[in-house]
Amino acid sequence: MNSFILESGFFGKCNPEEIAAKYGTPVYVYNEDNIRAHMKAVAEVISKYPFRANYSIKANSNLSILKMALEEGLNADALSEGEMRLLLKAGFTPDRIFFVPNNVDRSEIQFAVDHDIMVSLDSLEQLELFGQINPGGKCSVRINSGVGAGHHEKVVTAGKKTKFGVAEEDVDKIFDITKKYNITVAEINQHVGSQYLDPEPFLQAVENFLRISEKFPDLEYIDFGGGYGIPYHKLDDEAPLDMEDFHKRFELILDKYAASHPGKLPLFKNEPGRYCVAEGGVILGRVYAVKQNSGKKYAGTDIGMNVLARPTLYDSWHDIEVIRKGEVVERKDMEEIYITGNICESGDLLCKDRPMPHIEQGDLVCVLDAGAYGYSMSSNYNTRLRAAEVLITSDGSEKLIRRRETFEDLFACFPEED
Ligand code: LLP
Repeated sequence: MNSFILESGFFGKCNPEEIAAKYGTPVYVYNEDNIRAHMKAVAEVISKYPFRANYSIKANSNLSILKMALEEGLNADALSEGEMRLLLKAGFTPDRIFFVPNNVDRSEIQFAVDHDIMVSLDSLEQLELFGQINPGGKCSVRINSGVGAGHHEKVVTAGKKTKFGVAEEDVDKIFDITKKYNITVAEINQHVGSQYLDPEPFLQAVENFLRISEKFPDLEYIDFGGGYGIPYHKLDDEAPLDMEDFHKRFELILDKYAASHPGKLPLFKNEPGRYCVAEGGVILGRVYAVKQNSGKKYAGTDIGMNVLARPTLYDSWHDIEVIRKGEVVERKDMEEIYITGNICESGDLLCKDRPMPHIEQGDLVCVLDAGAYGYSMSSNYNTRLRAAEVLITSDGSEKLIRRRETFEDLFACFPEED
């Protein structure tokens, strides 16, 4: 693919240069059609059995995007009280919210219980706490079914090297606690990790999980988690996850389960975050300096690790396109370049020695696939303001969906001077 921006018509009727001029840079830009199409796809991962997709809002919790998930009929999972509050504000009813925390204090669980939101407990200790707060209640338990997957060890969330879930060997201890507090485990959930294009480990985890589920007699829901990957190397024609094949293989496993469970099946659930929003978001940033340092060429932009943490944190690859005077620069006559941000760290790099078309001062860079874990992981490091977020709506026009932070926002938490 030569240009994702052009081939997908990402900016609709708008020009990236006009958006940059109107809202400043760095600016996150989302495409509504792209996000809705991905949300529709996750809602159909299982069609043969009772199923509900849950959007995992840690990937992107912009209120407008949450409302799209609501309209697309998705439920949602939340990791914190903040995420539960946002979902309620977006209009999700409590029965459409699933709280999947780890290591929280009493108040967050209490908030969920007070709002009739189903809670998943990630350890025996947290289950005990739930029992004290809500004796006689219903809950979910997160189980580590032994298989992990993901693009980096930091995001593998099952298997032997992770803090998450109750280990399979401890499952029987769950029942000592549920008996003590008269709690019903109405759901079990797992999450293997994040960003896989080969679904094999996930499907293996599904099989393990269904085997473990036999120990739980009262299940109303079985939640397999998220992690569905997207092609971050799309300009090099990386293939996307084959959803049709995934769907078929997933349902074959469920066929076996259904055959051995005549009667009412539990509601199956998933929890994808990235898949819904990653490809529907880009970041526009301005190039302020192009220079040579010890034989290496650097393009210095305003997209620092405060704006997009993924490359610094996980060495993640994001494709980047160059825009000059509103036109996408063709990918030819490539030269290797480091593209950096404006943060006071040498690790503040969007890419290293990357073959790119010639870049000039004043160009815009457009970082692709930034819709997931982009804004939601951005920070105020170096006392920089968090970016604005703009949506290209289905009619091709643009709409501000979060204003840029101001210095007043940033300083508001300090006590008043006397
Ligand atoms: N459910 C649970 C319990 C999770 O912990 C996560 C992600 C998800 C669902 C959604 O996973 P997804 O479908 O988005 O892969 N910041 C990292 C990703 C961290 C994911 C953490 N948990 C990144 O930028 O790659």
